[in-house]
Amino acid sequence: MIELGVNIDHVATLREARKGVSPSVQEAAAIAEAAGAHQITVHLRDDRRHIQNHDIETLAGTLTTRMNFEMGATKGIIAVAHRIKPYTVCLVPEKREEVTTEGGLDVAGQQDYLKEVVAGMHELGIKVSMFIDPEQSQIDASLAIGADSVELHTGAYANASGAAQVTELKRLEDCAEYLADKPIAFHGGHGLTVNNLQPVLALPGLKEVNIGHDIIARAIFIGLHAAVREILAELEKVNT
Ligand code: PXP
Repeated sequence: MIELGVNIDHVATLREARKGVSPSVQEAAAIAEAAGAHQITVHLRDDRRHIQNHDIETLAGTLTTRMNFEMGATKGIIAVAHRIKPYTVCLVPEKREEVTTEGGLDVAGQQDYLKEVVAGMHELGIKVSMFIDPEQSQIDASLAIGADSVELHTGAYANASGAAQVTELKRLEDCAEYLADKPIAFHGGHGLTVNNLQPVLALPGLKEVNIGHDIIARAIFIGLHAAVREILAELEKVNT
């Protein structure tokens, strides 16, 4: 069974364009949950360009599913996670100048620090996921520091076309195969859409996808409930 996390960051992007209260992030989460989303994903960025601290605080009390809290592993954001205690934190790299999360986290390059971060989350009962590029060395490092899951960055696959996309899919397939006998859950996300999702859903062992931009973009034309349902219909093809 593959589950869907709906990332609602870009509802907040629209709200922050006017620094007002509309559209409501809480309402978006409630609609996504009513449509069948298994979790709500939010990224509290260092520059607070979309989701704000008050969104996280409110969502923590109103979600009926679970919160997947994407975060850079910085002291300030770690303190927020420790206070809110989301179901999962997904550790991502973060650069202020990037438009979105552009590459995976270099877990191998900062194992000692991240091991402590993971242990601190586990002490509070929070599961930890690592958002990594599809590379065996990053999977090995994630295992070594005790992460509960890896979310393979599907952006390179999603942004490629033709032969390059076939190559990127093969990288994901190789990692899926490598993960098969490992004690760590396998998730995917970034750049996924109704049109490019099926090959990712076919990856053996995949348990969860997190999708944001495409759902919120489609919602402008067909409504959020229908946009979530469209993606869930893709999942149902493989979950039956
Ligand atoms: N997963 C992670 C770790 C992310 O950082 C993002 C973007 O915030 C997503 C999934 C969702 O990506 P997209 O908005 O392209 O669907």
